[in-house]
Amino acid sequence: MKVFAFNGSPRKGGNIDLLLAEAERAVNAAGQAGGEGHGHEWTRFDLNTMNIRACQDCGGCEKTGACVINDDMVQIRQAIRDADRIILASPVFFFGLSAQTKAMIDRCQAFWCEKYLLKTPLPEGLFGRKGLLLLVGGMKKEVGIQCSETTARAFFRTVSIPEHETQGFLDVDEKGAIAKHATALADVYRAAERLVAKDKQ
Ligand SMILES: Cc1cc2nc3c(=O)[nH]c(=O)nc-3n(C[C@H](O)[C@H](O)[C@H](O)COP(=O)(O)O)c2cc1C
Repeated sequence: MKVFAFNGSPRKGGNIDLLLAEAERAVNAAGQAGGEGHGHEWTRFDLNTMNIRACQDCGGCEKTGACVINDDMVQIRQAIRDADRIILASPVFFFGLSAQTKAMIDRCQAFWCEKYLLKTPLPEGLFGRKGLLLLVGGMKKEVGIQCSETTARAFFRTVSIPEHETQGFLDVDEKGAIAKHATALADVYRAAERLVAKDKQ
């Protein structure tokens, strides 16, 4: 399977970074366990280092489903098109997804037009399309997870991912503190295993 991970955290060695490393380990191990020729293809995009302009609401995508802005979203949109599995990973910033994550999502308006205006949703592919949402917030307030979940859900449905699992962790603030969380790394490892498990289709 082709697995694409979108990292919306700017912190290298931060909590989302560590969770994504765990997810990558699980995906690679599951691919190796599947035997020769069954390996998964893992690609990670660090959104903070990419050139992703905010959506200009120019209406350019409404007739063709193509975005008129030529930046790193070109390769991201191709990845979303090719994906069997998508992992969206973001810290909670101001009770929602980080700006890096949200900018990428807003630019998926072109997929929204393709699906809902032009009535050509992305095809299911060989394995169906599934998602995993990873969230970390420094506060104990659940609303940060809820708001992020709502936006992420709209993203997943727009790019024709009909189901996704969410793993959200609160009260984890310091860089790398997720490693000391009682269950987080194991929770995400298992969620990533479920993500690429064929029997869950
Ligand atoms: C700009 C900013 C806004 C934040 N807003 C929230 C918030 O609303 N709710 C929350 O739970 N944590 C908030 N946090 C804390 C981060 O979610 C927390 O530090 C998280 O562990 C960062 O993940 P990372 O290490 O992957 O970047 C905020 C942090 C920053 C820098």
